[in-house]
Amino acid sequence: MRYSRYMIFLYAAMLGVPLLLYIRIVSSIYGLAFLSSVLLAAAGAGLVIFGIIGFDEVYAHKGSSAASIAVVPDAQRPVKHMNRAAVHGAEGSRTVAFRIRRFDAESGSLSWRSYMLEADRLTTVLGALVELREKQDPTLSMRYSCRMGICGSCGMVINGKPSLACETNVFDSMTGGEVAVEPMYGHPLLKGLVTDFDDFFEKHISVNPWIYRKGGGKFNSDKVFGQSREQTDRFLPYSYCIMCGLCQDACPVANANPDFLGPQALSQVYRYHADSRDQRGDARIFDVDTANGVWGCEFAGACSKVCPKGVDPAAAIQLLKGELFNTVAEC
Ligand code: SF4
Ligand code: FES
Repeated sequence: MRYSRYMIFLYAAMLGVPLLLYIRIVSSIYGLAFLSSVLLAAAGAGLVIFGIIGFDEVYAHKGSSAASIAVVPDAQRPVKHMNRAAVHGAEGSRTVAFRIRRFDAESGSLSWRSYMLEADRLTTVLGALVELREKQDPTLSMRYSCRMGICGSCGMVINGKPSLACETNVFDSMTGGEVAVEPMYGHPLLKGLVTDFDDFFEKHISVNPWIYRKGGGKFNSDKVFGQSREQTDRFLPYSYCIMCGLCQDACPVANANPDFLGPQALSQVYRYHADSRDQRGDARIFDVDTANGVWGCEFAGACSKVCPKGVDPAAAIQLLKGELFNTVAEC
């Protein structure tokens, strides 16, 4: 630990003053009052000089530990409210054209509207949309929550690709200096860029996406269920789904056939079937052994391409098909 002169002064003052008073009292008892007064005056002067030097050190920012506590150089301060121009240079920003396709619930029509916005290399599409709404068009509607790719609510089509707006960088996604934003294609439209997820969630719930234990009912974790690394590896990649619906939106089969269960729900069937804690057995996969279940999948693979969490629903569906083949072969 490094002590500055300022800190030494403080400690000296705390310990020295009571000690000197004690010496003064004791010496006056033994008739040495003059000597003790001289001692006290010298010590007091020393403390005052030490104090002046210590305070000078603090206010002159000489880099001691005390000084660095009192005045932290700007470069070492944590950036609380990020000043983008200061961090990355104002020259990094540029004006970007946004074309936004919005749904008007009253007229039931979709129309494009153009905006211009100053963006820098940190701006996300969601950040740009929020700024557009705050500064240019309060009627712009979009759904979002976490702003960090976790809640799955900011899905939209950005330059033709289903994407999470909060994870899409404006500069990276620009084509021809422009960013085109549309509501998702495969979900009913509600307002602006907002789409309806009711059908998507119903399909998810329909596959019983939870662990079953024998005796019926949902998994009750009243004890530890140990799993080996191999056992967790089987289902873990499929458990990262955040239900953003992008895979459903990208899937040509789901877009053409609303009854198709879709890549998200089917990948969750595999996720729970592959989990060694689940005791639902083959009933789980037999439920989706249908034309609108696993056999509806034409293995286009678009679902896996757009998944922001690397879930790979296309692989999950093929694994389900393999499980069904194996089950039938065993019978
Ligand atoms: S599988 Fe991927 S794309 Fe589909 S809902 Fe889950 S996280 Fe989104
Ligand atoms: S706002 Fe939560 S994933 Fe984008």
